[in-house]
Amino acid sequence: TTDEPFVVAVDGPAGSGKSSVSKEVARRLGFGYLDTGAAYRALAWHALEHGADTSDAASVLDVASDFDYAISLDPDYYWVRVGGTDVTEAIREPRVSDAVSGVARVPAVRESVNALFRALVANSERPGVVVEGRDITTVVAPDAPVRILLTASPEVRAARRSAELTTEDAASVAAALHRRDASDSTVVDFLTAAHGVAVVDSTDLDFGQTVQTVLDIIAASRNET
Ligand code: DC
Repeated sequence: TTDEPFVVAVDGPAGSGKSSVSKEVARRLGFGYLDTGAAYRALAWHALEHGADTSDAASVLDVASDFDYAISLDPDYYWVRVGGTDVTEAIREPRVSDAVSGVARVPAVRESVNALFRALVANSERPGVVVEGRDITTVVAPDAPVRILLTASPEVRAARRSAELTTEDAASVAAALHRRDASDSTVVDFLTAAHGVAVVDSTDLDFGQTVQTVLDIIAASRNET
């Protein structure tokens, strides 16, 4: 229907600036913001809470059956809850980052979260939603009017991540990031732009320039329709 929100699909690797850029773009347009990685992180947190073996699909599916999760689509009031517990901060802990690829590689998990993502977008009361993740441009919203792959060089991505995580040294942040990239890329190819996907390389752009580049792509697409 004509009431369907305008979807901006953004994929990219860890440290590409995907989350902060997507959130700011949503704010500027009055759109909703959906962080799909947070759903996988919330399930990984839930699995760890229940002592599941996140490298074992059967163990993951077992705890996934009572996974009750809610996420805010408001870029100005962002939260993630599992059951009654606010896990907004907890899902960023390194132990969760290390476990999340194991959870995300289970096909049944991906199918059920994807169905939830599509329902959240369809039911959003905002005029549009910026949806960010790894397979949004290809699997979750392949028909979105705007699809963007946000990239940056591995060196720049590691530097941005270590600036966020002040408690850890740069070398271990870079090592963890490369480990997760390698593991994640066996699940979905998030480094190659699918046909029709615009690549935004933020290696030499600052935050404001990256946001503006994405806003320009969206504006061009809205003028076409
Ligand atoms: O973007 P992030 O680092 O918060 O994502 C957390 C994990 O979830 C990451 O290891 C890859 C996985 N993920 C995925 O497989 N598909 C998505 N659409 C989003 C995230």
